[in-house]
Amino acid sequence: MSALVRLTTADLEPLTVLEVHAQPLPWSEDQLLLELVHDDARVLGLLDDGALRGYVAVRRMLEEAWILNLAVDAAHRRHGLGRRLLEAAREAGREWGCTSLWLEVREGNAPARALYQGFGMSERGRRPAYYSPLPPSSTRETAVLMALELATAPGPPRR
Ligand SMILES: CC(C)(COP(=O)(O)OP(=O)(O)OC[C@H]1O[C@@H](n2cnc3c(N)ncnc32)[C@H](O)[C@@H]1OP(=O)(O)O)[C@@H](O)C(=O)NCCC(=O)NCCS
Repeated sequence: MSALVRLTTADLEPLTVLEVHAQPLPWSEDQLLLELVHDDARVLGLLDDGALRGYVAVRRMLEEAWILNLAVDAAHRRHGLGRRLLEAAREAGREWGCTSLWLEVREGNAPARALYQGFGMSERGRRPAYYSPLPPSSTRETAVLMALELATAPGPPRR
């Protein structure tokens, strides 16, 4: 099973390579670096024998935790890695004492929306024309806001 680790600036190169291959409009190296060094962020990765298979970037914003990015290497999808990364982000949110976990996703990103819905996240709103167009389209895309309450999520069993 892949190992979950907190990524550091030493992981910037493999992280950038994964991002470029996994996303149609990838984050730049500078955007990734900002999350790696930010006091209120965690970048968590899944490694197989040292090879990065996926990552999630999550930030604390007062009582909310926000997933800012999430990607799994295309050759390793549908093996539960995305779900494990969501669990790791949820755990980070709980450790920070946040009461909810939030994210934005492109309306047309069916795989990601299915992942989030299956994880118990529900739609909380929409931002029309929020995302830049995904080529070859020239139409800006709606963002769907999704969230999960952390306070009501099951904790350890009561004695
Ligand atoms: C979205 C993404 C992270 C999913 O990662 P993954 O490791 O394949 O996800 P999992 O294997 O954990 O999938 C868990 C569940 O999500 C749903 N799901 C995931 N991919 C799906 C797809 N292509 N079609 C339909 N449902 C899908 C399924 O319910 C799946 O459960 P199942 O495999 O038992 O049916 C991955 O497709 C990806 O990196 N996409 C490109 C980057 C991206 O869109 N990031 C999200 C930005 S908001």
